[in-house]
Amino acid sequence: MKFNIAIDGPSAAGKSTIADLLAERLGYNHLDTGAMYRAVAYKAMNSGIALDDEDKIVEMIGNMDLQMKIDGSVILDGNDVSEAIRTNEVSMGASDVSKLQGCREALVAMQQKICAEGGYILDGRDIGTVVLKDAPVKIFMVASAEARAERRVLQNQEKGIEADYESILEDIKKRDYQDTHREHSPLRKAEDAVEVDTSDLSIEEVVHRVLEIIEEKTGDKK
Ligand code: DC
Repeated sequence: MKFNIAIDGPSAAGKSTIADLLAERLGYNHLDTGAMYRAVAYKAMNSGIALDDEDKIVEMIGNMDLQMKIDGSVILDGNDVSEAIRTNEVSMGASDVSKLQGCREALVAMQQKICAEGGYILDGRDIGTVVLKDAPVKIFMVASAEARAERRVLQNQEKGIEADYESILEDIKKRDYQDTHREHSPLRKAEDAVEVDTSDLSIEEVVHRVLEIIEEKTGDKK
């Protein structure tokens, strides 16, 4: 039987990369919940809705058509916004809208519906504590802010995007602060989550460690 797997942690800790690789290995689907907060922020920013206007944002979510495709693409009102939601402005905007309780409730309900049948790896900030409280496997992935900034710089350079280490590091620290200090569902490790520090591990080493944890928790050799 396929169960669901929760991966939480701060931004740029490698959650999405690892979730993608695990999904491929296990024949599971990956749901990037951060992309859903990004899509909400993107639409609000393009509609002139203030990112702290909870009523308008909740109403907007009720009227928007958000499709999270199995291949990872994000379709918003019929348009592929997978790349457009990755800018620094949208990252900060996503952190802003994610503070709103009404926004969180709407997105959590969508996430729980998507993975109701099992076989999903969800990555985010509140997966182990709220969305999938009963998941048998919960990973809390961390890395130093410096290691995360270095990785982001390399990723951006590979994509041909200009990357300034100091400003990326500052953004990461600012988002960490916002995500851990907000009132509703702040980022925190679930009591039954296993912490994996990826600062000095290669991607393959992290995947290996997570597969070990899955085996320890479920007795299922992958
Ligand atoms: O994972 P990400 O960087 O794409 O997430 C963007 C923002 O969305 C992040 O700053 C916090 C928020 N978020 C959240 O509050 N809960 C989630 N489950 C996922 C993301």
